[in-house]
This record gives sequence, C-alpha cells and structure tokens, in this order.
Amino acid sequence: MSKVTQIAHPLILHKLALIRDKNTGSKHFRELVEEVAMLMAYEVTRDLPTEEVEIETPICKTTCKMLSGKKVAIVPILRAGLGMVDGMLSLIPAAKVGHIGLYRDEKTLKPVEYFCKLPQDIEERDVIVTDPMLATGGSASDAITLLKKKGAKKIRLMCLISAPEGIKMVTDIHPDVDVYVAAIDDKLNQDGYIIPGLGDAGDRLYGTK
Ligand code: PRP
Ligand code: URA
Repeated sequence: MSKVTQIAHPLILHKLALIRDKNTGSKHFRELVEEVAMLMAYEVTRDLPTEEVEIETPICKTTCKMLSGKKVAIVPILRAGLGMVDGMLSLIPAAKVGHIGLYRDEKTLKPVEYFCKLPQDIEERDVIVTDPMLATGGSASDAITLLKKKGAKKIRLMCLISAPEGIKMVTDIHPDVDVYVAAIDDKLNQDGYIIPGLGDAGDRLYGTK
C-alpha cells in the first residue's frame, strides 16, 4: 500500500499561499517552487540509509553517520517538474537527473509522451519523480509506468499541489509508490484544473500564457 504524506510545515504553507496568488509573477513563482521543493526534500529523503564512518575532529576520533552511498535519481516530468529540480539538487548534489516529457492533451486530459532520457543505472537508484501538480494523476501514473519499464524499482512521487482524484489514481495503479504532497486541494474542475490550485504550473513558471 502506498504511503501518502502531506508535508504541511508552516514555511511550506506560507510559500504555497504566495505560489497560489495570481499576482505572483514568474520570477518569484520559480523561486518559490524551488524553495518549497528544497523544504520537501528534507522529508522525502528521511529514510535514506546511513552508515557509520570514523571522523577525526580537532579534538579526537569519533563515529558519525553519513549517507551510505545509495544513489538517487531525480526525474522531473517536463515541463513544470523541472522547476523543482534545483531545490532538490541543492540538498542532494550527487543525484543524477532524468527527464520525462509528457503533456496533457487539452481535450482528452490524457498524457502524451514526447521525451524520455534517464540515467543508465536507473534500476540501481532511488527515484524521486517531481511535478508541482497532481491533477487527474494521468501524467504521474504514466511517468511511473515508464520508469518501471526502464527498470526503476524504488520510486517516490513528490508534488506540491494535489487533487484527491490524482492521489487515488496513482496509489491505485502504483501501490508500491509513496506519494509526498504539500497540499491536498478540494477537487478538479470540468477542465481538469485543481480547485483552488494555482492555475497552469508550466505557464506560470515559464511565462507562456
Ligand atoms: C501539468 C502538470 C502535470 C500535469 C498534471 O503539465 O505539470 O504534469 O499537468 O495533470 P494530470 O495529473 O491530470 O495528468 P502539463 O500537461 O500542463 O504540461 P507542462 O508542464 O508542459 O505545462
Ligand atoms: N496542470 C496544471 O498545471 N494545473 C492544474 O491545475 C492541473 C493540471
């Protein structure tokens, strides 16, 4: 069974309110998405394995814990997922980055794949899929299916704003995938937009509308 974690830290809630505000321009929007992704990374990586290492401080030798070298891959769903990558990389600089290009057909709301480039050793890596929006769940579900076909075994999904419909689809299709979100909103409107949401994440990040 998937674990669904809502990370409702006060700093995240504050930044989410600014992100949702229609008067927030692209530059500030991009900075906020990156900052929230960095704050969420702290929780998403909570169970990464550590190992004991011996360190010599200026005073004496001691035993400390460091990450055990388990490899991580961050896989944004293009375009909007890209906005979360730098925030994640600032905490996990050794992670490799894969890219999956999907867009949602405006009429059918079904995702259409147009790009996939993953680290060669994806099957050995802990994969964190990033996308600010989990609406119907079609894009995230298809991206995870594709990752599994390419050999990925341990996959987590990290989104800023989610709808109950999207959480249900992903957890029904991929019960082995843990889902991390900053907010669970009310529902989708007839055009598949999250209510209250933030509008179109890709357009707001890159100023394309
Ligand atoms: C948005 C968003 C997700 C998807 C969510 O991308 O970034 O990938 O929609 O919707 P779903 O859960 O119903 O599939 P979009 O298709 O607008 O592409 P873009 O990031 O290039 O703007
Ligand atoms: N994609 C977005 O960017 N926003 C939504 O509300 C739904 C899908």
